[in-house]
Amino acid sequence: MTEQHPADDRFVLDPATGDLHGDNRRLREAGPLVPVTAEGVPAWAATQYATLLTVLTHPSLSREIRHWAARDELPPGTAIDRIVTDTSMLNAEGEDHRRLRTAVAGAFTARRLEGLRPKIEALTGRLIDRLAEMPPDQPVDMRKEFAYPLPREVISELIGIPQAHQEELHELSDAVAQVGGSLDDTPELRKALHELLGQIIDERQDTPGEDLITDLFRLRERDGGRLSTEELFATIELLFIAGHVTTVNLITNAIGALLNVPGQLDLLRSGKCPFSAAVEETLRWDSPIAYFPMRYAVRDLEIDGVHLRAGEPVLACFASAGRDPGQYGTAAHVFDLSKPPASHLSFGHGPHFCLGAPLARLEGEIALSALFAAFPDIAPAARPEDLAPLDTLLGNSYRSMPVFLGP
Ligand code: HEM
Repeated sequence: MTEQHPADDRFVLDPATGDLHGDNRRLREAGPLVPVTAEGVPAWAATQYATLLTVLTHPSLSREIRHWAARDELPPGTAIDRIVTDTSMLNAEGEDHRRLRTAVAGAFTARRLEGLRPKIEALTGRLIDRLAEMPPDQPVDMRKEFAYPLPREVISELIGIPQAHQEELHELSDAVAQVGGSLDDTPELRKALHELLGQIIDERQDTPGEDLITDLFRLRERDGGRLSTEELFATIELLFIAGHVTTVNLITNAIGALLNVPGQLDLLRSGKCPFSAAVEETLRWDSPIAYFPMRYAVRDLEIDGVHLRAGEPVLACFASAGRDPGQYGTAAHVFDLSKPPASHLSFGHGPHFCLGAPLARLEGEIALSALFAAFPDIAPAARPEDLAPLDTLLGNSYRSMPVFLGP
């Protein structure tokens, strides 16, 4: 039982090592709940599948920041700071959480998503037509030219971002999400994103449409303004960021796995395995989210023999859980489509289970099946060991995914 964990005993989570899965293996071997520092913040890391499952559903672990004893010491401007301090559903519990989640859940039902399918297919088709015009013997970065624009267009459509603002908004969100970037100037970028979203939301109020911003305004009228302006903002901002970069990482990581792990693409092309299974195996094997902050102990408690004191924070290690031999056996580190897809925690579990999971799955499946059908000779243009990982705490993917599209 661990009562004390002096700072020098802690693992430092450093995305700059460029070896997330190696770091995760060392964390899992250190135990199910490991004292770490992330961006200078001390926390417990839930490293193994079973423990992460407990953490995600534990009634005495809350996402409400008021339960965090050291919340005033949180360094401003860090990725953790941006995630845990907003007033979105992610940081709410109980009745408030239900109210905020229900406000937008209608947009993610199976029926609404089936309605989106033709749009996603058409967008994918346009991106593929553009790829087909590129010189077949030059490397093309699939993250930039394919994985990145598709979810961006889809989430913009769903939220109701007018065409005129899309380019500016996307440049900002890209920088905020630190796709391949550093954390340096994000407070300013975040402010600029917030202001631009504010302008878009204001404009949308006067020109209602079939979109989420309009839905939220209507809800506000119905519920007598219970949904505060800050909450409305936080919801749109959360959906815009959560709905974008995570899915970019999923599509990028899937392309990398399918092109680099021998025999896997053949299983898909021969129809022995559906593309939906490739999406699930990618989510497990190379989770788009590496680490995700935070849950706080509302009282002293014990999980898997480790004592947590009231007020201590716990970080979820999604990529680590996906390769836990305790859950997936000794071949946990192997990307393998010959077996039925294993369940995973990469969309979370319990009350905060990812609201956009059905949308991300739909986008992944459409994108991958269309890409590999359109380019039968597609091949990697870099060795897996030469791909540069993102140096971010939250995201797990590559800065670029160069391929030859073939004749
Ligand atoms: C929550 C992962 C795509 C919206 C979550 C959580 C995870 C996750 C792990 C739970 C966090 C926790 O409990 O600590 C992912 C992954 C995605 C993805 C891996 C893509 C592959 C999306 C999309 C949207 C979205 C496309 C929306 C369009 C949300 C929202 C929540 C959430 C709103 C908060 C739910 C709540 O607090 O009740 N996501 N996500 N996500 N995700 Fe996703």
